[in-house]
Amino acid sequence: MENSYSRLLEGNRRFSDTRKLADPEYFKKLSLGQSPEYLWIGCSDSRVPANEITGTKSGEIFVHRNIANLAVHTDVNLLSVLEYAVNYLGVKHIIVCGHYGCGGVMAAMSNKSYGLVDNWLRNIKDVYNKHEKELLAITDKDKRENTLVELNVIEQVRNVAKTTIVQNAWKKRPLHIHGWVYGINSGLITDLCCIVDEKEDIDTIYRFEL
Ligand code: CO
Repeated sequence: MENSYSRLLEGNRRFSDTRKLADPEYFKKLSLGQSPEYLWIGCSDSRVPANEITGTKSGEIFVHRNIANLAVHTDVNLLSVLEYAVNYLGVKHIIVCGHYGCGGVMAAMSNKSYGLVDNWLRNIKDVYNKHEKELLAITDKDKRENTLVELNVIEQVRNVAKTTIVQNAWKKRPLHIHGWVYGINSGLITDLCCIVDEKEDIDTIYRFEL
């Protein structure tokens, strides 16, 4: 087999062999079930693979990825992943991880049209609009982009917290939502320290009497 995808299958066999060599029961144990502690909401960007950049293995992180790591309250995909992770897997931490140089964020900052995705990126334009004063005060273009990447992560952390799924969970147990940004050029994650873990952390209008 000499084509561009065959190396993926070869890579898979090497992966399987390496794991089995280290622990012959590795896959048997994984097949029994999963109980990850973390839900990862990240960007689809090929350079931001959740397990690889956090040094974790199969079974450790439940993952949801989309363009520009958005938590949109009408997205049934996101809501289903969130509910399953919180109510069935019992994750303790939800991590929204954006990244600098995010194509989605940069596109949203411009007035160019990219087709259907314009409607998805509208969510970032809303973040921009909400923080326009702060953003326009930044003269350096890269700095302004980086700041929007960070603000977008913070807004998505809040969006996760605004769901009934998270607020219901808070009645019963601790659940922490974190905002991180990954630097593609450094390989390092920065914790934005915008942790949300109780109803009081979100604006009053979004709090539900549950
Ligand atoms: Co991105």
